Amino acid sequence: ESGKLWGGRFVGAVDPIMEKFNASIAYDRHLWEVDVQGSRGYSRGLEKAGLLTKAEMDQILHGLDKVAEEWAQGTFKLSPNDEDIHTANERRLKELIGETAGKLHTGRSRNDQVVTDLRLWMRQTCSTLSGLLWELIRTMVDRAEAERDVLFPGYTHLQRAQPIRWSHWILSHAVALTRDSERLLEVRKRINVLPLGSGAIAGNPLGVDRELLRAELNFGAITLNSMDATSERDFVAEFLFWASLCMTHLSRMAEDLILYCTKEFSFVQLSDAYSTGSSLMPQKKNPDSLELIRSKAGRVFGRCAGLLMTLKGLPSTYNKDLQEDKEAVFEVSDTMSAVLQVATGVISTLQIHRENMGQALSPDMLATDLAYYLVRKGMPFRQAHEASGKAVFMAESKGVALNELSLQELQTISPLFSGDVSCVWDYGHSVEQYGALGGTARSSVDWQIRQVRALLQTQ
Ligand code: ARG
Repeated sequence: ESGKLWGGRFVGAVDPIMEKFNASIAYDRHLWEVDVQGSRGYSRGLEKAGLLTKAEMDQILHGLDKVAEEWAQGTFKLSPNDEDIHTANERRLKELIGETAGKLHTGRSRNDQVVTDLRLWMRQTCSTLSGLLWELIRTMVDRAEAERDVLFPGYTHLQRAQPIRWSHWILSHAVALTRDSERLLEVRKRINVLPLGSGAIAGNPLGVDRELLRAELNFGAITLNSMDATSERDFVAEFLFWASLCMTHLSRMAEDLILYCTKEFSFVQLSDAYSTGSSLMPQKKNPDSLELIRSKAGRVFGRCAGLLMTLKGLPSTYNKDLQEDKEAVFEVSDTMSAVLQVATGVISTLQIHRENMGQALSPDMLATDLAYYLVRKGMPFRQAHEASGKAVFMAESKGVALNELSLQELQTISPLFSGDVSCVWDYGHSVEQYGALGGTARSSVDWQIRQVRALLQTQ
């Protein structure tokens, strides 16, 4: 006897190096709870199909309760032969209730078992991550609402572009995260499909009712094809891609804030709670939280690319390569959970320097508005753009700010300039012009806040 649950046809021993290489218990033990849950559902299916008596089912359910209790209390003892969570739990069940335990795996394969477990686990994780994501979005929207009268420079190509509301910047990131939230719900829908009852490849020959299993385990649907069900990991790839895209958004926000908290920008100050110091330079306060958020994106992308490479070139149905899916899922889930919580902490404790933000605005950022001034006087936009460009050039050549050109000087560029041009040089007036939905005017920022809050309410 090899001591393995699959030992029947083996005579030789497995090389200890191979044993270790093959084992997944070190990480798939995280699945202990969903593995027990899946087995509970399956034993009910077996009883309904007449493969277990009611007494046997009760014995198994009772034993599974004990297994779960041991895991929960940290008293579950792994044996050296426990290759993965499925074999470990079944081995222990047999120790607890005897030979009846051997009936639990009737018609089941670890191939349909593992993917059922993983889906159960990920379904729960999606709900947790979704909650954390909304917590972050809510924090951002609250902040946007409280600080919507703060103006600061908006950048394109990292060059000063146009004055915007600080809240408009916050909302630009929050809105991206609402798409991530929506996407996560869609991924969860595809995770929430039951593969149990697919066996190893061909299906279940013993009359197990998969519709009943679905109801028992509260899945939204059942998989259509047993070969596909035991081997497809689309839902894992989608989850890893979801995480990758969400991380790009968080990394971009982190990068903005890293710049904004430099002395050169001085728009914001990171709370001590999310910064660290330098062991050498006493004056330093480093934005490590943001840098780590930015860097974790790389780790998550790597897991996504890694899984796709594992899947590519596999022949049909279950291959042991698929065992590699779990570490990716666990690591990415942990990373996302940490990143979302840290981001929420950073945003809620951030201090802004309103005066610095205001002082960073400069009249050249109003050159577009100067062109719009002429457009409102009837000039075609292309000509107005040209005229405003000439004003920028004139101011630069004279070494003065754009708003320091005299009316006479502006009139040498276009006779359409008149006394009311002075209105252009007001940043508050500038942002208020951008009132079309989605723009940076107060009314539009309020509209954005209402839209995101409405989405929050549907969660
Ligand atoms: N530990 C395995 C995994 O994670 C379970 C399935 C193994 N199935 C098998 N036929 N070897 O994928």
